[in-house]
Amino acid sequence: GDTPDLVVVGAGLFGLTVAQQAAERAGARVHIIDVRDHIGGNAYSYMDEETGAEIHKYGAHLFHTSNRRVWDYVNRFTSFTGYVHRVYATHDGEVYPLPINLGTINQFFHAHYTPAEARQLIEQQAGELAGTDPANLNDKGIQLIGRPLYEAFIKNYTGKQWQTDPAELPASIIKRLPVRFTYDNRYFKDTWEGLPADGYTAWMERMIADPRITVSLGVDFFDESQPYNKKALRAAGVPIVYTGPIDRYFDYALGDLKWRTVDFKEVRYDEGDHFGCPVMNFSDADVPYTRAIEFKNFNPERRERQNPNRTVVWEEYSRFAGRDDEPYYPINTDADKALYARYAELAAAEHGVVFGGRLGTYQYYDMHQVIDTALKAYDDQVMPLLAHVA
Ligand code: FDA
Repeated sequence: GDTPDLVVVGAGLFGLTVAQQAAERAGARVHIIDVRDHIGGNAYSYMDEETGAEIHKYGAHLFHTSNRRVWDYVNRFTSFTGYVHRVYATHDGEVYPLPINLGTINQFFHAHYTPAEARQLIEQQAGELAGTDPANLNDKGIQLIGRPLYEAFIKNYTGKQWQTDPAELPASIIKRLPVRFTYDNRYFKDTWEGLPADGYTAWMERMIADPRITVSLGVDFFDESQPYNKKALRAAGVPIVYTGPIDRYFDYALGDLKWRTVDFKEVRYDEGDHFGCPVMNFSDADVPYTRAIEFKNFNPERRERQNPNRTVVWEEYSRFAGRDDEPYYPINTDADKALYARYAELAAAEHGVVFGGRLGTYQYYDMHQVIDTALKAYDDQVMPLLAHVA
């Protein structure tokens, strides 16, 4: 009949991976819905006509993984460029390399420390609060890397991320602050990294280029005026993979899980290259945004196709999310974790529905982790629901 074997709510990387597996491995007819007007979830990108930049609509996305299964899987749908992620920071009128490394340290202290000398200096500076139990994020930061580097590169950036003075933030927000005693400023340590050669959206379109997979966009799972709604599908007993917010699924019955969001402000410049790099952090309090993304610079291999006289930059402003904002980073206080655990119990009792992805499990996941968990969720939870498919 017309009823699909599986309905996937959310066309992000979790939903697309499960849909792809269900069609290929079980021969299932899968229908995907998404409330947005495009597939790809937060990894979606589009081409900016004027500059030739590929704009990552929900913030900068860099693919990296050390997981062989995930790397082999994604390479079925796209090749990757040789892009290697590096980040720079503007502090007090100078540009420094990040993460904090020997180059950052020697520039900051106008020195030529060897790795051993730099290590000794940082240990000595971190000793300021040695043996004390950090009362807040500020004290924790000083304990980890010493006051000078903490105050220059971490304090105000973190304050902007949380819109809160770090002296008022819990120490538990940071576990460690990486400092490298070499000049290596390669951001990721994974075996493989790169950007999808033809863009994120082309990659994700290829994942579902299967006649058994259909998609409806602009469709809200909770809108009962459309056929693929929660109530109707539950009544019909259709297996569901749900990748929307878990608290929303249960109508916020136990309360709201808390998230941070990011607002983007677009700025265009009459020049070919504004920063000379794709990501510039602003470490000081006088610049109100945390960082700026210059999208053209993610794809230097496309220079010939980019506008040499114009560039587009997105400045990022971080803040707490309300129900109508895009939820980006789970806040994950102890209270949030306890609340999520209670929602997870409700989810486990919801037979025939698999909760997945970053919203469905209240977890920050990188793309490779979402794909990994989706492949596992297909094997362990979705495949058994498709046993009847011929
Ligand atoms: P995702 O959010 O992508 O998809 C869920 C989908 O469900 C959405 O499309 C949503 O519209 C839909 N939906 C929700 N409710 C619905 C409803 N009621 N009805 C219908 N549809 C509904 N990762 C990485 O590897 N490298 C990086 O550099 C970055 N950078 C980065 C920056 C920022 C700002 C963020 C927020 C995230 C990253 N990520 C990242 C993480 C990456 O975005 C993430 O791992 C995946 O996009 C998550 O895919 P999901 O499918 O889980 O969720």
